[in-house]
Amino acid sequence: MRLKNEALDDIQGIITSGYGHLPQAAYLFVMMSNAEGARRWLARLSTSITSSRRWTVDGDSRKPRVAVNVGITAEGLRASGLSADVLRTFPLEFQDGITAPERSRILGDTGASAPDEWEIGGPRTDPVHAMLLLFAADETALTEICSLHRDMLESSDGVGELPGSMQRGYRPETAAEPFGFHDGIAQPRIAGLGGDGVPTGEFILGYENHYGLMPPTPVVPRELDSASFLPRLASPYHATKDLGDLGRHGSYLVYRKLQQDVAGFWQFMAREAARGGSTDPARIVWLASKCVGRWPSGAPLILAPDRDDPRLAERDDFFYADDPDGVRCPLGAHVRRTNPRDALKPYPSEQSLSMTESHRLLRRGRAFGPPLFDARVLGDASGQDLLKTLTGLTDDGQQRGVHFFCINASLKSQFEFVQQAWCDNPRFGGLNDNMDPLTGTPCPAETPSRMTIPESQGSLRTQPLPRFVTVRAGAYCFVPSLTALRFLGGGAGALLHPGLEH
Ligand code: HEM
Repeated sequence: MRLKNEALDDIQGIITSGYGHLPQAAYLFVMMSNAEGARRWLARLSTSITSSRRWTVDGDSRKPRVAVNVGITAEGLRASGLSADVLRTFPLEFQDGITAPERSRILGDTGASAPDEWEIGGPRTDPVHAMLLLFAADETALTEICSLHRDMLESSDGVGELPGSMQRGYRPETAAEPFGFHDGIAQPRIAGLGGDGVPTGEFILGYENHYGLMPPTPVVPRELDSASFLPRLASPYHATKDLGDLGRHGSYLVYRKLQQDVAGFWQFMAREAARGGSTDPARIVWLASKCVGRWPSGAPLILAPDRDDPRLAERDDFFYADDPDGVRCPLGAHVRRTNPRDALKPYPSEQSLSMTESHRLLRRGRAFGPPLFDARVLGDASGQDLLKTLTGLTDDGQQRGVHFFCINASLKSQFEFVQQAWCDNPRFGGLNDNMDPLTGTPCPAETPSRMTIPESQGSLRTQPLPRFVTVRAGAYCFVPSLTALRFLGGGAGALLHPGLEH
């Protein structure tokens, strides 16, 4: 079913767009100290949220120069006075929050990636109640929109920005993440936006998901929404009850600040090439690309197994089933794990395609920090300059990485499943001791993770992989519809659990 304009007006823009035309981003972390003030801020904010409606002026499509979206954590909903009875209708993993010990176990957030070590959102830092996601066409527009929202926060009672927490993100001109690989290529298409695609309910609450079911949605009993502000829940599971649907047109957002050790990554690849007797820079880049599953240009290894081919950079229309042993694209490569497409073992292609459809993620990440090197050098894999660059990289002490964001209707069966069952699973695809080389789970010394790279004669196995990525911050957010945001802003009046305030 195609999403109607009324629906697009209600769905936050970050769900349906990566704002590719707005390369600059800032993320503000908000704490609420008083429910009434928090609700007033949410109500004010609801008037400046960018929806999913496509911009047309006199029939022309005009893209805006800024976009504003908001995500609210479970603690934030509580702090804004949402009734505990309503909060309990959210999925458990969201209620727990990303730092709960059971979530950390699932996500592999231990050691240097443990929430205790986080800069933002961990148990040792102030709680994050909401995240403002600001996007802009250039620095000037970003500064303006940031000041506007900081002023709004400052002038609102009961809410404030966490001191020193603002994060900057950007989409580099090269489109390369800090290791130097073209990022932001493969994305699921939402069926409701037209054409073929993944069922809308995988990303937006209130629509059928892969199983032909409505994803679970948080609900509000009639007495807390006496004005029927929210749409009535149309669900066979609640047929006899009169409930407001708080989730409709909303979704869930995962935030992870992932710091990358770029020098460590390339030094490892150079060491591994040297161990195999090669100092050829093309070999170093080949090894790194085998870990990613795409070449630096973005060309998928499955289509370009021997060398980079920038003409294939944007391709997303490929499958793995005719490469069952991973000779072209290793089974453990990052992109093959995070979306195994038609080759999820041991299932036949069609079943695999169907099963993977329920574990897709809409990625909305941005890079942060200054690049350690110019990713364009990777385009010249034969040059001596490249060799000098790659072997000469040393850490400069600056933080860099990606602000990883993804949208999904189920944190548990999408993000958490992908991280746990595919990325961190040493036996993924019949492997034995291979975890995802990129996604950052630390491996205990007694069970090191390696990369297995099958070649036509035998397999190459690397030395144990050091950790290249460390989690530095995180949050699970609800991305309410505009209607739900107005409701949370007190639009319906009787939102509070009796006795919570006054
Ligand atoms: C710093 C950490 C990470 C880096 C450097 C990284 C890098 C990349 C790159 C270069 C690609 C290929 C380009 C593209 O298709 O857009 C990619 C694809 C992808 N990544 Fe990551 N990634 C990171 C973390 C993660 C995490 C934590 C997840 C989820 C748990 C994830 C999920 C995906 C998915 C779903 C794809 C698309 C696969 C496909 O559909 O073919 N990534 N990533």
